[in-house]
Amino acid sequence: MNEALWALGRGTGVVALAMFTLSIVLGIVTRSGRPLPGLGRFGAADIHRTAALTGTALVAAHLGTLFFDPYAQLTVTDFFVPFLGAVKPLWQGLGTLAVDLLAIVTVVSLLRHKVGPRVFKAVHWATYLLWPVALVHALGNGTDARTPWMIAFAATCSAAVGASVVWRLLPSYAGRGWRRTPRTLAHTR
Ligand code: HEM
Repeated sequence: MNEALWALGRGTGVVALAMFTLSIVLGIVTRSGRPLPGLGRFGAADIHRTAALTGTALVAAHLGTLFFDPYAQLTVTDFFVPFLGAVKPLWQGLGTLAVDLLAIVTVVSLLRHKVGPRVFKAVHWATYLLWPVALVHALGNGTDARTPWMIAFAATCSAAVGASVVWRLLPSYAGRGWRRTPRTLAHTR
């Protein structure tokens, strides 16, 4: 039973990270205003949102399963307050920090029509911090961090997010998206 919880805890963490990677990449594509081939006008935005919500549900499963894994020694406090854990407090604390950021981004995103686009956008910048914090947590805390598949997975995710962020910073990226078509983007976000 403990082995199953441990495997499930690790598996849900890895797939959550994959979902957040996809979500960041597609968030950047959505913001560019360029449709992805075959996905139509709002396809990228829909998948961006679905990947983020799936990742959030998987993080909940990650915490739920590892909570019952006696080796992880998690307490409810570790879900909310970083760096107090009994095992690898620094690496685990980064996971908690990612969850705190995730909670804020998720709540504000769900309330985006109430808080308005300025607050939504400002809070959404936190995802650029959330992702690397979660990745460092995974590499520092995870059992599989030194396995070839995990190294390849982390490298692939980093390359995808890194390339997207570089594209985001290029002058050719700017000028499309909300600035020109704020109404359209209001539908996509
Ligand atoms: C956005 C939030 C989070 C993500 C994306 C995430 C993802 C991951 C990933 C990918 C691993 C590596 C699994 C492996 O080695 O195969 C991991 C390990 C771990 N995470 Fe998280 N995590 C998050 C938050 C948290 C939080 C808040 C806690 C506890 C308070 C936590 C506790 C752990 C533990 C104990 C391990 C080690 C599991 C093991 O290999 O024994 N994680 N996490």
